[in-house]
This record gives sequence, C-alpha cells and structure tokens, in this order.
Amino acid sequence: MLPPLKRILVLGSGGRENALAWAMEKCKSVEEVFVTPGNGGTRDHRGCRCLDIKEDNIKALIHSCQSYKVDLIVIGPETPLAKGAADELRSAGLAVFGPGAHGAKLEASKSWAKELMIEAGIPTAKHWTAKTEEEALIVLQEFKNPLVVKADGLAAGKGVIVSETIEGTKTAIKEVFKGKFSSSDDTVVLEERLQGPEVSVFALCDGKRMVLLPPAQDHKRLREGDQGPNTGGMGAYAPAPLLNEASLQEVKTLILDPTLKALLSKGIDYRGVIYAGLMLTASGPRVIEFNCRFGDPECQTLMPLVGPELANVLHACALGALDKAPKLSFSNFCSACVVAATSGYPAASVSGDIVNINIELSESLQLFHAGTKYTKDKKIYTSGGRVLSVVAQGESFDIAFKNVYKGMENIHFNGITYRRDIGNQVRNF
Ligand code: AMP
Ligand code: GLY
Repeated sequence: MLPPLKRILVLGSGGRENALAWAMEKCKSVEEVFVTPGNGGTRDHRGCRCLDIKEDNIKALIHSCQSYKVDLIVIGPETPLAKGAADELRSAGLAVFGPGAHGAKLEASKSWAKELMIEAGIPTAKHWTAKTEEEALIVLQEFKNPLVVKADGLAAGKGVIVSETIEGTKTAIKEVFKGKFSSSDDTVVLEERLQGPEVSVFALCDGKRMVLLPPAQDHKRLREGDQGPNTGGMGAYAPAPLLNEASLQEVKTLILDPTLKALLSKGIDYRGVIYAGLMLTASGPRVIEFNCRFGDPECQTLMPLVGPELANVLHACALGALDKAPKLSFSNFCSACVVAATSGYPAASVSGDIVNINIELSESLQLFHAGTKYTKDKKIYTSGGRVLSVVAQGESFDIAFKNVYKGMENIHFNGITYRRDIGNQVRNF
C-alpha cells in the first residue's frame, strides 16, 4: 500500500505546471494542490492555490512542504532539476517526482546524454563534440554534409541550428563560437541531420519501472507552415497516430527501457519523466533529444486524457514503488492544444497587457495559463512569451480542433499570436 496522498506541491509557473496541478487535483484523496510560484490561472482550478516562493529558494520550499504536510512534490521545469532541487528536497525526507541533478544531465548535457545512448546502444544521430571553431570546421570538412549545431548545456529550447547546406553549417558554427547560444557550457555538439516526422514520448519512471503516456506531437516553429524561429512549442495534439500501440511498445523496448537501465547502471535512481524527442526516420526511430521533464505544451494536451490515478502514479514513482500504483487509465478521445503568445515571442516578449477571457469551459474544453499574472485589481495581465493555451477533446481531431479555435476566439489581449494550422497532419480543413 502507498502512503496517503492529500497535499501536493507543483514547482513551476508555466502552462505545464498549470495543467499538472489541474490533473492531479482530480485524484479522490487529494485535498489541495499548491503551485509555486504558479501563474494567473492557478487559482481558477478547484483545489489549487499559489504559494509565493521562488523556484530556487529550496529552504523556503522545504519549510512550506513541512508546515503544510505536503506528501508529494512534482518539479516541472528543467532548470531546478539540473541544479539539484530534487536532491535537496529528497535529503529533507520529501517524496519528489523529478530526477536529481545527475539524472537531469539527460537534458542538461547533450554530450553526456549522447555518451549514454552510445553505451546503451540506443539509436540516435551520429555526433561529434567540439570546443573550438577550428575543431568544428574540421568535423564539417571531413563529414562533407550539412550538420546540426547544438549547444551542449541548457539553452531554453533555443540551442539548436539546423542548416540545409554546408555553407549554412559553417555560418552556424561561426555564430555559435561568437556566443549566439547563451548556454552554460562552451562545448558544441555537431550532429548528422536526420529526416522524418517528430514525436514526443513520455515515460513516468520510478527508478526501475515505467508507464508510458500516449505519444504527442508538438509544433516548434512560430509560424504556420512550420516557418519562422523555433519556440518552446506553439501547439500539440495527442495521441499522435505516428506511433500506434505496437510501435510505441517498440520505442519502449528499443529506447526507453535501455535508457532507464543505463541510468541505473550509473547509480542513478531516476524518479521522474524521461521525455524522448524522436524522429521517425526511414531506418526506424532515432532519439533527437532527451528531456528530464514533461514537454510544454505536450503536457497540457495530455493531461485531459489521463485518468484521476495520475497523482497516485506520480506519487508511486517518487517513492520507487510503481508496482503498487493503480493502473493509469486513458481516455479514447483526441486532444488538441493551441498556444497563444505575445507578439514579440520568442525574440522578446511584451508584458503587462490585460487578458480578456470570455471562454465557457467544459469537461472537454480547458484553459491553461502560462505567462499570466493575477493582480490586486482582480485582472489578468500578460507576463511572458507564451501566455496561455486552449485545449479540447473530441471523438476526432476535427472536432477537438474546431472547439479549440472556437474557444480561442473568446480570448483577447494586445498582439495575441497563435498558429491556425496546429494539427494540420491529422485534421481536414
Ligand atoms: P532539440 O532541442 O535537440 O530537440 O532540437 C530542436 C529541433 O531541431 C528538433 O525538434 C528538430 O526539429 C531539430 N533537430 C535537432 N536535431 C536534429 C537532427 N539531428 N536532425 C534533424 N533535425 C534535428
Ligand atoms: N515542447 C517542447 C519542450 O517542452 O521542450
């Protein structure tokens, strides 16, 4: 039997954390979900409330978790994970869903993750690392084909340049060594360029075992037709028909099981999400990247599809006891999510505009806030690049997307920007 689960704390302020809190509150035994620092939409969800503690103030977090008798902490973003927040909270005796700093290297160091993949025989793009421009240019000269240039460390989703030509790769290498990436490390990873559709797969792990969520597809580019700069994600849909049940199992056997085993063999008790960003190439699935957390906006898309057991499952993962968790159930519906951003996103984001929301939510239509603030005047203001997402479920993707876009028409703020072609792969226009 798992210990009681009444109070949960979610760390983070994005749409992902807003959706996680909403989904975990559905668990029967859960009385309250705190989100720290949360956003302008946290208080709109039943049983959820903001705690004003900064992400990196671990002392205050521990204090609050102890005084509110929090049974489970779920860490949303990669930065606190990479900095060891889960380790510190666990040392204080708290149950945490999220890997420690060592496990978070899966995302925080691309070269470390690549080495792990090679050791474990996990299919991924060929790669090279370079510490200087000269080294990188020699790799390019010898490879004689365009390469993908990546920052080694965390770069807030902006650390990758994909070039179509050798000249383009050369320019990318030069820019990177002039400091284009604001990454924490000066190592650059060069990768063979793969081709194929991309899909995100999420494994909820307890160190030894895992449960998979339905596959999701994200839309990383800012503009319709997959044009413009890469963003954190402008929309998503799930389950992505790119992977059926059998091919999802194949991904588990070929990629996720060996990853968890390789982590364990390094002494890493990985209790959290392994997010595999895959490219489905003509020669089979290849790992493009691993992340150590839920994807955003994939999480907002997936949460309405998971059953009320989610909180118990994450709790069991945190306790290393997934075998004692109830079976996670999933709805058969299609889920669609569209993100609304401010006009300058992702280069710069304007904040401080009033957000007018007239949307009528239902069992199959949700609103998840991200970059918003609720102020003393009882109004919601924009406070970040990706402001919110509208999510809907239906028997088909056509229905789900129709309802998302209908919902979006009832949201207004200065410079609102969203893609009208999210889910173009699965719906009829
Ligand atoms: P990442 O941050 O590693 O997920 O990279 C961001 C995006 O760059 C991915 O979603 C892909 O669209 C693209 N990308 C990254 N690595 C490769 C690769 N080896 N071949 C082709 N495209 C890539
Ligand atoms: N949606 C992509 C990410 O969360 O990295």
